[in-house]
Amino acid sequence: MAGLSVNVDHIATLREARKARYPDPVSAGILVELAGADGVVVHLREDRRHIQDRDVRILRSVVQTKLILEMASTPEMVGIALDLRPDVVTLVPEKREELTTEGGLDLMVHQSSVAETVDTLQNSGIPVSIFIDPDPEQIKLSHRINASMVEIHTGTFCDANAAVKKEQAFSNIVDAVKLAHKLNLGIHAGHGLCYSTIKAFKGLHEIDEFSIGHSIVARATLVGMENAVKEMRALVKAL
Ligand code: PXP
Repeated sequence: MAGLSVNVDHIATLREARKARYPDPVSAGILVELAGADGVVVHLREDRRHIQDRDVRILRSVVQTKLILEMASTPEMVGIALDLRPDVVTLVPEKREELTTEGGLDLMVHQSSVAETVDTLQNSGIPVSIFIDPDPEQIKLSHRINASMVEIHTGTFCDANAAVKKEQAFSNIVDAVKLAHKLNLGIHAGHGLCYSTIKAFKGLHEIDEFSIGHSIVARATLVGMENAVKEMRALVKAL
């Protein structure tokens, strides 16, 4: 059965919108765990637009399930990860102008620097997942550089409106998942998933964990964090 990790970045987005002290993503991390999430995810961006260093530090000491740190493959972030020791690091591409992470890491372009980061972190005992598009070449390269896991980008599928595009995007995800499984990579999936798109993953049991943020935080503003996480947890359980 797949797990559910909840990304609490957007609690920090709300806080930073007013440069206030609330809402606190640390409190959100505790609440999502109490509601049954299998992990808490935060993305410490280079520009610190939402999650701050203090958030990750406190979350590291209070999260009891699993703390997943999303970060760019840069010397600054590697230093922070080595110091903080999250349970998993997910390497993501980062552009200052983007609204959110827009695509997977392109290992055709960044293979050698990402391989170095994977080696450094994994040699220190921190498993690394690489956020990649559902593309067989990216899966093979992730395997070649010895990453423990991949996180398959589900955004193209979730955002597609036309049925043909959606079908093609999902078929790419299925192929990527099957290949990653064959190569013995751990498999996470995420980006853009909501209470409706998650249902498409029924039967795709090779996925170990879904990483979901925006839709859960958005729903939590209306029904509360506990209900929002529990509803998604039930949908993931039913896959
Ligand atoms: N996985 C990765 C690697 C991400 O960068 C994000 C967004 O921060 C997510 C999952 C969660 O995406 P969403 O907020 O759209 O659920």
